[in-house]
Amino acid sequence: MVPKGKFIAFCGGEGAGKSTQIELLAAHLRRRGRDVLTTREPGGTPEGQQLRRLLLTPDGDGWEPMAETLLMVADRVQHLRRVIAPALEAGTDVLCDRYALSTLSYQGAGKGVAASFIRELHRQACDDFWPDLTIVLDIPPAVGLARSKRRLSKEKSDEDRFERLGLDFHDRVRTAFLDHVRKNPETSFLVDATQDISAIHDAIRGRVDALFEA
Ligand SMILES: Nc1ncnc2c1ncn2[C@@H]1O[C@H](COP(=O)(O)OP(=O)(O)O)[C@@H](O)[C@H]1O
Ligand SMILES: [Mg+2]
Repeated sequence: MVPKGKFIAFCGGEGAGKSTQIELLAAHLRRRGRDVLTTREPGGTPEGQQLRRLLLTPDGDGWEPMAETLLMVADRVQHLRRVIAPALEAGTDVLCDRYALSTLSYQGAGKGVAASFIRELHRQACDDFWPDLTIVLDIPPAVGLARSKRRLSKEKSDEDRFERLGLDFHDRVRTAFLDHVRKNPETSFLVDATQDISAIHDAIRGRVDALFEA
């Protein structure tokens, strides 16, 4: 596959503002004349929608961390092969809500599955395909969880399986995101997600515009 579009993933804790910022960035890129696809994990394919239910709602409370990891990767295989890669090949930019870094952070750092195993799984199952840029929205878990819980209750959503985990879990996830950005400055970008929505968008837009000019 020779990608012609850019692949940008958004990661970060619950309630960090990924969905909000993806929509703003998509509108910005479309104004610049780009063709943009917004999508998400888990659940970016019809098969993945079923996995999303099993992974994010109380139906999934019994999964072993290893089983949860394999389901996340199964969702990603479908999504990458059926949706992301064909779009990139066609010249469409793909903005994806969560990708492999979220598996490393949540199932790896958060739940103790070996990072080396998750990386090997990504190599074998997803051809070691990484985004051009991973944007990490950084937020103290207590702040993000409060936002997320408000949104879930407003939308009467039961996709709260990760929100219900403890602050120590969310702290480990956050630390893993921050470590990744420190180690991968070329392909990742850290944004302070406690800022207001338009300040965050401005920061993201600046970095993404630079990506297109590179
Ligand atoms: N910078 C921000 N400041 C305050 N509230 C925000 C901000 N960004 C998003 N929100 C609100 O917080 C909630 C979660 O945002 P959302 O974009 O759904 O986060 P995520 O997709 O990362 O879980 C939404 O109700 C949204 O309107
Ligand atoms: Mg969201």
